[in-house]
Amino acid sequence: MNETENQNLKRPPVVVVVGHVDHGKTSLLDYIRKTTVAAKEAGGITQSIGAYEIEHSDRKITFIDTPGHEAFSKMRIRGAKIADVGILVVAADESVKPQTKEAIKALVDSETPFVVAITKIDKSNVDLEKVKNDLTANNVLLEGYGGAVSYQGVSSKTGEGIKELLDLILLTADLEELKYNPENLASGFVLEAKMDSKRGNSVTVILKDGKLKRGDSIATATAKGKIKILENFLGKSAEELEPSSPAVILGFETLPETGEEFLAGKLSEEDLAKVKKTAVRKLETSDTKNKESQTIRVILKADTAGSLEALYDLLKKIPIKENQTLDVISQSVGEITDNDVKNAVATKAMVLGFRVKPNKAAENLANAQDVMIITDEIIYRLVEGTEKTFLEMGKSKFSGELEILAVFSAKNNKQTIGGQVNRGQIRIKSWLEIQRNLPNKGEEIIGKGKVLNLQQNKKEVNAVNEGNQCGLILESEIKIEVGDKLLSK
Ligand code: GTP
Ligand code: MG
Repeated sequence: MNETENQNLKRPPVVVVVGHVDHGKTSLLDYIRKTTVAAKEAGGITQSIGAYEIEHSDRKITFIDTPGHEAFSKMRIRGAKIADVGILVVAADESVKPQTKEAIKALVDSETPFVVAITKIDKSNVDLEKVKNDLTANNVLLEGYGGAVSYQGVSSKTGEGIKELLDLILLTADLEELKYNPENLASGFVLEAKMDSKRGNSVTVILKDGKLKRGDSIATATAKGKIKILENFLGKSAEELEPSSPAVILGFETLPETGEEFLAGKLSEEDLAKVKKTAVRKLETSDTKNKESQTIRVILKADTAGSLEALYDLLKKIPIKENQTLDVISQSVGEITDNDVKNAVATKAMVLGFRVKPNKAAENLANAQDVMIITDEIIYRLVEGTEKTFLEMGKSKFSGELEILAVFSAKNNKQTIGGQVNRGQIRIKSWLEIQRNLPNKGEEIIGKGKVLNLQQNKKEVNAVNEGNQCGLILESEIKIEVGDKLLSK
C-alpha cells in the first residue's frame, strides 16, 4: 500500500499462547494481566474481548486470550499470520502431550517465532529435565540444548519467572523488527465477530498497520461498513487506535468472518477490490458446469470421543457451496477399517480420520475402490485438506483431456495412439482414466492406462499442453477406440 519511506514506526508484538489442555495458559495470562500496568487501569472491568494489551518495562504487548485461540487456528487454516510471537506452554508436571505437539507444528508451520513457558514449577512433582528432553525429541531445540529457543520456568501461583518470560517475549519480538506505517490504510485481522442484541454487529479486530479512526470505512472480503464506534480492549471509546491494538468496532453492515483480513480508511474502489481478493475461503459459486445439487458424504473417524467431537464441530463450519449439502454418514472412534471403506463405497462417501490411520485392509480396499481417505494428526490441516477437497468437488476432477483421433497399433497391452489435448496437460508416466461414450449410458469411465511414451512432432517429450496433438504409447487392458477421451487428474 502507500508505503512512504522513513515512516515506519515500531509496533508492539501480538502474542498468542498455545499448548495442551489444562497446562496453564489462561492462568498465565490472568497472572500477567493482574500484575501489569494496563490491568491496574482496567480496575474492575471484566475482560470482555479475547485480546488485551499489557505494559511491561514501559513497552506494550498485545495478548490473544483463549477465545482468540480458535481464531488463531482458523487464521492458520487461511495461512494468515496474526501473531508475531507465540508462547508454547508446557506444564512441568505433565511435559509434552498431544496438543503440545499440535501447537509446536502449528507454530513451526506458520513460521511464528516462539518462547517456551514451562508452567506450574511450584508443584512438587515436576521434572524439568524430562520436559526439556521431550521438547528436544519434538524438535524444539532449547538454548543450551543445541538450539536457540528460549525457555522460562514459571508459576502462575507464585509469579516466579513471569517477569523473565515477559522479557524474553520482548527480546524475541525485537528480532522481528515489528513495524507499521501510520500513513498506510489500517489493516489487520478479525478476531471475533458477533451480533450483540443491544449494540448490533460487534467486531473485534487486531490492528497490524496504519491507524484505525472513528468515521472511517472498513471492509473485509465478505463484509463492509463504517466505524461508527471504536473501542479499545477495555471497552473505552476511542477516536483513534494504533497497532498492535485490539479494537472493538461497531458499524459493520453484516458480520465478517473470523480470521478475515480487514482494510480501513478512505477506501477506494481499488482498495475494496484488493480486500475482496484476500478471501481465502471465498467459494466459487459461479461454477457454471455444476449447478446441480451435490451431496458431500463423509465418514468420520478419530482416536477419542473428544477429538471426534472436535472434528465434527469444525467440519460443520467448513463453508460449502450453495448447491452442496454435507451429510455425515457415520462417526466412530478407532482406526479406519475395511468396514468403514465398504460403507464409504456403498454410500459414495469419503473418510476423514483425525489422529487415526487406515489399517492395511482398509488401505488396499480404498485404493482398489477409489475411496478418498484424508487423515492428519493436526486438526487444522485435516480441515484445510477437507475444505480444499470440497472446493474441488464442484469442478471437474480431471485437469487434462486427450481426445483419441487415431489408433495405430496394439501389441500385448501396449497401444500406439494419437490424439489432441483438448484441455490441460498430459504427462509421461501418468495414469489416465479412459472415458468412452457408451450407447444409452453416455460418457463413462471404463478403465485406466499408463502413458509409457509421449511424442509431440515426433519428438519425445515429458508433457503435452492444451491445443496440441501428440502420439503416445499407452499400457492398458482396455482396447482404445477413436473418440475415447483420456483424462488426467
Ligand atoms: P485450557 O484452556 O482448558 O486448555 O486450560 P489452560 O491451559 O488454560 O489451563 P488453566 O490455566 O485453566 O489451568 C489448568 C489448571 O492448572 C487449573 O486448575 C490451574 O489452577 C492450574 N494451574 C495453572 N497454572 C498453574 C501453576 O503455575 N501452578 C499450579 N500449581 N497450578 C497451576
Ligand atoms: Mg484456558
